[in-house]
Amino acid sequence: MKLRTISDLNHSQFAGKKVFVRVDFNVSINNGTVGEDYRIRMTLPTIEYLASRNAKVILASHLGRPQAREPKYSLAPVAKRLSETIGKSKTPIRFVNDCIGPEVEEEIEKMKDGEILLLENLRFHKEEEANDPEFSKKLASLAQIYINDAFSTSHRKHSSTYGAATLFDTRLAGFNLSKEVQYLSMIRENPVKSFTLVVGGVKIKDKIGALEHLLPKADKTIIGGAAAYTFLKAKGIKVGNSLIDEERLPWVASALSTYGDKIMLPTDHVAAHSPSDNSVMMVRGDIPDGMSGFDIGNETIERFSAEVGGKGGGTVFWTGPMGMFEIRAFANGTVNLAKSMALAFWRGSKTLIGGGDTLEAMKKAGVSESEVSHVSTGGGATLRYLAGDQMPGLTVLNGL
Ligand code: 3PG
Ligand code: MG
Repeated sequence: MKLRTISDLNHSQFAGKKVFVRVDFNVSINNGTVGEDYRIRMTLPTIEYLASRNAKVILASHLGRPQAREPKYSLAPVAKRLSETIGKSKTPIRFVNDCIGPEVEEEIEKMKDGEILLLENLRFHKEEEANDPEFSKKLASLAQIYINDAFSTSHRKHSSTYGAATLFDTRLAGFNLSKEVQYLSMIRENPVKSFTLVVGGVKIKDKIGALEHLLPKADKTIIGGAAAYTFLKAKGIKVGNSLIDEERLPWVASALSTYGDKIMLPTDHVAAHSPSDNSVMMVRGDIPDGMSGFDIGNETIERFSAEVGGKGGGTVFWTGPMGMFEIRAFANGTVNLAKSMALAFWRGSKTLIGGGDTLEAMKKAGVSESEVSHVSTGGGATLRYLAGDQMPGLTVLNGL
């Protein structure tokens, strides 16, 4: 998909202009402080580019899924983190307690060229998620140019990602969004061979679309995490009490019959009676009744590691942890996979990770962002894009 991006406009076209930038600052906040700020950092190229070209940069985001104006969902801590990240020498980030209305308009009127203003959580107005036309008009009236740098929210058809965007003559993709689309479309359309797909995590449901699209393209598909137990069960292997997705069994069985020869499944497991059970057991083959698998076993780690990190060249895409990595006893599989990803990268493979917990898992393994070709900011959005689904936040950038 070829998108119009910021760099399609010449520098002077931003000077003095009010630019509305939809970012995704939906990050974790613990006791009023931002946790992982990857999504914030990834928007800096766009924000700094615009500020240095004397635009008035108006940032808008959602945070969480608030039912009303709940203080714990305020973006104020994000404004603070953004100021710290951009640095004291630059303009401080201003913050306003709403995203539409007279107070916001006043703040914007006061802005000098090159200043940055963060609006309060868009979802404090329920009209945002409803893509309400009146609300869209109010958002659009704040600025002259629209930029979307929130790839991870572009599967949503909300006012800020869609309705408001339609009301601007100039709608552009930000740098991070463009980079995401470039990497993910490579995976989706034409992955550099050989292509290894690694799917873990709990829910198969969210990943079926992406799997349907990518299974035919992948040379090898590794399935780990709880997702693997549904596959094993479909093959007639006993999985004890392990989490499985009964409803998806028929889909899994048919995927196995078509692509079985290139699907790699765990052959041994770290099993226990419950996640808090201290006596964990390494089992090969069938998992005994009453026990559940919570991580892949050592033999599986070796097989998966050899496939992911053993060669170099080609492409590896990884989404979803290999086990319940939050618990130390069940973290080995995920930690080793992350290390194999780093090894693949150092050996010249293009490596991509995406989807919710995967960045967290990688960091827990001591693998840094710079040891991966691309870390997607998206969870749901990444999987939807890979599935080939319509992305309202992207289509709106390319005319209607
Ligand atoms: C995400 O974290 O996946 C995005 O920010 C979208 O959030 P949502 O799932 O609440 O729409
Ligand atoms: Mg989500």
